[in-house]
Amino acid sequence: MTTDIATETTAEAREFLARDERHNCGLWQPDTVLVRGEGVYLWDADGRRYLDFMAGIAVASLGHANPRLVEAVAEQAERLMVCPQNLANDTRTEFLEKLVAMVPDQLQRVFLANSGAEANEAALKWARVATGRRRFVAAKRGFSGRTLGTLSLTWEPKYRAPFEPLPLPVDFVPFNDVTALGRAIGPETAAIFLEPVQGEGGIHPATSEFLTTARSLSRQHGALLVLDEVQSGCGRTGRFLASEHYSVDADMVTLAKGLGGGMPIGALLMTEEVAAAMPKGGHGTTFGGNPLASAAGLAVLEEIEARDLLEHVRQLGEYFLSALQALRSRKIRAVRGLGLMIALELKEKAAPYIAALKDRGVLVINAGATVIRFVPPLIVEKEHIDEVVGHLVEVL
Ligand SMILES: Cc1ncc(COP(=O)(O)O)c(C=O)c1O
Repeated sequence: MTTDIATETTAEAREFLARDERHNCGLWQPDTVLVRGEGVYLWDADGRRYLDFMAGIAVASLGHANPRLVEAVAEQAERLMVCPQNLANDTRTEFLEKLVAMVPDQLQRVFLANSGAEANEAALKWARVATGRRRFVAAKRGFSGRTLGTLSLTWEPKYRAPFEPLPLPVDFVPFNDVTALGRAIGPETAAIFLEPVQGEGGIHPATSEFLTTARSLSRQHGALLVLDEVQSGCGRTGRFLASEHYSVDADMVTLAKGLGGGMPIGALLMTEEVAAAMPKGGHGTTFGGNPLASAAGLAVLEEIEARDLLEHVRQLGEYFLSALQALRSRKIRAVRGLGLMIALELKEKAAPYIAALKDRGVLVINAGATVIRFVPPLIVEKEHIDEVVGHLVEVL
């Protein structure tokens, strides 16, 4: 068990939670005040230490307080924080060059935004303008964001229902069903939008046949293939893009989450041809590509390269997956994943087990009602995995 410096919630922590509750928007009811992080560990206001296997939902790719990332952001903050995209910036240019060098060759152009939903919104606009078509094909259980445009692509009925009718026409197909995909695509389809590994929907890797068919069908029908790698990208699965496991070249790829290692950022990567379709002034955002976010993104990419984190993720991902597959419990329905994007699906609700792990000093998050999702920092080591698996054995 991790060291519990304190086990009681102190008056100071309770006071913070009460103050938070007075002014937050009411969507969540936090019961913990996080105050510090280092590596794979977090500390709350009571001095309790947690092993962070949630990483801000696949965001803290380098863990917490990574020295290269901290120094890059601090140095950039002292030098220049603001530079709109109609002016160039040295750090942004270096970041763009590094990013393009790490992805498949056809992705030569980048629109920088501030979140996953924003990157996907940009992809929707580019898809429409590049094809002159209006419809989209997406997958059941898929998640693309919560803005009105991206919510049209997000399948989960409870996220959609309060806001219907949603603005974009989307045809949903069961994930990994190539026959349904063939039936859904047509002359009005601007793009097929897919996650190579569905994240929020429960960590479901695509089959090779599904992604390859999506590629060939979209070409055949004059539509584009957009891969949402907001969660699966930036090394999370052991390749820089999860789609590289499948050797599928998309027309557009979106990234966010782990790309900034904690700094808000989003990126839409696209081919020359797609990028050229947008009229001048057809899209934009004030903060996109800001020097601070660019400095963070550059530091993350440099660290992934310098520490060979893709190989590390492949090894540790296999180690973690095997350890979970070796668990013997009647409560487990399935174990699946790719790299360090892993699901333990239970035959019952996951929430009580997630709470029990937290009581033991392990932070994880669900992905749907019955899935415990593990998306630890990419720098995680075997001993951390052993510790989490040990706790799991006990709580199960
Ligand atoms: C695959 C995928 N796309 C898009 C999003 C939306 O990203 P953001 O929350 O940064 O808007 C998420 C967030 O979980 C995601 O997992």
